[in-house]
Amino acid sequence: SDRPELVIAIDGPSGAGKSSTARGTACRLGLAFLDTGAMYRAVSWACLEDGVDLGDAGALIDRASTADLQIGLDPRRPVVSLDGHDITREIRTPRIAAHVSTVATIPQIRQLLTEQMRQTIAAARRIVVEGRDITTVVWPQAQVKVLLVADPETRIARREAEVRGQAAHGEVIGSIIDRDRKDATVSQFERPAPGVELIDSTYLDLGQVIDQVIGLVPVALR
Ligand code: DC
Repeated sequence: SDRPELVIAIDGPSGAGKSSTARGTACRLGLAFLDTGAMYRAVSWACLEDGVDLGDAGALIDRASTADLQIGLDPRRPVVSLDGHDITREIRTPRIAAHVSTVATIPQIRQLLTEQMRQTIAAARRIVVEGRDITTVVWPQAQVKVLLVADPETRIARREAEVRGQAAHGEVIGSIIDRDRKDATVSQFERPAPGVELIDSTYLDLGQVIDQVIGLVPVALR
């Protein structure tokens, strides 16, 4: 059907707890899960793997257009594969994080991936979708729309815990600030769009954030 019964859209900056919240909510309610950041990461991986010049937007768009991107929707095991290769782990490296904004700020690539996101959502019956522009651009008709934020220090600490052993403190701060700045060209998180609920996770644990999201779901749809 092209009218899913329940779409929960969760946007927010890096380190606010989007992924854990989206996956946890999907698991608790038995919904599918779509990580749209993983799609931008996968296209970035393809470009880097093929040695595409990151300064050549046309070449990046060409690579993105020919990529066969498969995104798994199981919140317990969201597998990402590109041209038949499982790259679930490969897209989580600091190298991808450092370059993904370059790819994600190209309008034609956003259009391409937005189209694939919409097709995936339309084909699902009940789904949680996390990203930067889901509530505003990709699927503003979602039944539940959340902007998940947290104080910068908290986001840096959480990202650091995630990448522990891979990067030093300064690198994490540098990369998170840098990515916020680049991401701000496609999305802004200072205030939620109309109909979007703001949840600040700074002083909440994961279970509390998930409870708040589920609290926004109409009882008949839980
Ligand atoms: O959430 P994440 O760190 O996996 O996102 C990776 C990159 O993709 C990040 O630079 C923001 C970008 N992104 C985007 O522009 N729009 C989305 N809907 C999701 C992610």
